Amino acid sequence: MPTNPHAPIALCCSHVEGATWEAGLRAALPDAALSVWPVAAPDAEYAIVWSPTQDFLDAHPQLRLIFNMGAGVDALMRLRLPPNARIVRIEDGGMAVQMADYVCHALLRHFREFDRYAASAASSAWAPRAPRDRRDFPVGVMGLGALGQRVARTVAAFDFPVLGWSQSPKSIEGVTCLAGADEFDRFLSQTRVLVCLLPLTPATENILNYASLSRLKAGGYLINVARGAQLVEEDLLRLIDEGHMAGATLDVTRVEPAPPEHPFWHRPEIELTPHIAAQTVVREAIAQIAAKIAAGLDGAAPSGVVDPSRGY
Ligand code: NAP
Ligand code: GLV
Repeated sequence: MPTNPHAPIALCCSHVEGATWEAGLRAALPDAALSVWPVAAPDAEYAIVWSPTQDFLDAHPQLRLIFNMGAGVDALMRLRLPPNARIVRIEDGGMAVQMADYVCHALLRHFREFDRYAASAASSAWAPRAPRDRRDFPVGVMGLGALGQRVARTVAAFDFPVLGWSQSPKSIEGVTCLAGADEFDRFLSQTRVLVCLLPLTPATENILNYASLSRLKAGGYLINVARGAQLVEEDLLRLIDEGHMAGATLDVTRVEPAPPEHPFWHRPEIELTPHIAAQTVVREAIAQIAAKIAAGLDGAAPSGVVDPSRGY
């Protein structure tokens, strides 16, 4: 690990508020030499980035730690990294609570049929519907990391049956935890409302497809808050048309922004939001990154380092 307390830092903020990050980092790390891309700092040992270009990485061959401003590192993993660089992702950083409220909102809107009440209200119709039993709506959370665990616990607090699925076995109170490829089918077949909070990796690309979604209980519902490339979009539409799936709430699409002609905008069974389920809280992210840089200077390895062989 680096031991130089003045190790130069390069900041590369495409698509995000660069001035806020720069001011926050200068306040949190007053002794650091901070350069803001496109000014290059070829001796930089740390980078703090969101969607950097290959040019940025090529201009900083000495990088040791690349701090991603978000939780998902899939875009970064597609680039050619400097030889000694490791990626560090944001761990929660204020996003877990946002994920929990997004998923609970989508789940409860679907389960309590609030869209139908809104349609009734639009025609001034007082139209109560029979209550539904939450035991008929088991919720399965794919991915039990920083975000998925918080979502699973929050959904369980609403008394829904909750299942979770991850790579390695977990134990979470109130959640039936399953793991690995061997238990995937069991997880799906016991789930009606499927929440995806997996990182996008070669193993999870297209994981939400005709075969997997067909395994959900009848009247299945998908909430994808992870990455658009995990869903085969036409397979979801086909399963809705065939009556097996009731619909979906999607925060992500394969191409973002979704163009106006994208069928998801035009299907009443699908709610689409513009990748806002959980947004990095800059203040919390800067505090987390600054603490890791300080810990790194003391020789400790930071948490949240991405394992290149797993891709997350
Ligand atoms: P994380 O802490 O790394 O957790 C990932 C979880 O997925 C872990 O439980 C991991 O299992 C599991 N997993 C990974 N590959 C798997 C596989 N092949 N099979 C089964 N389980 C697998 O990630 P996080 O911080 O919770 O974030 C999850 C994702 O949410 C991010 O990668 C990002 O794409 C997405 N995200 C979206 C938004 C938005 O606004 N829409 C915002 C933030 C993040 P183990 O625990 O066994 O390793
Ligand atoms: C947002 O999608 C993130 O990965 O932080």
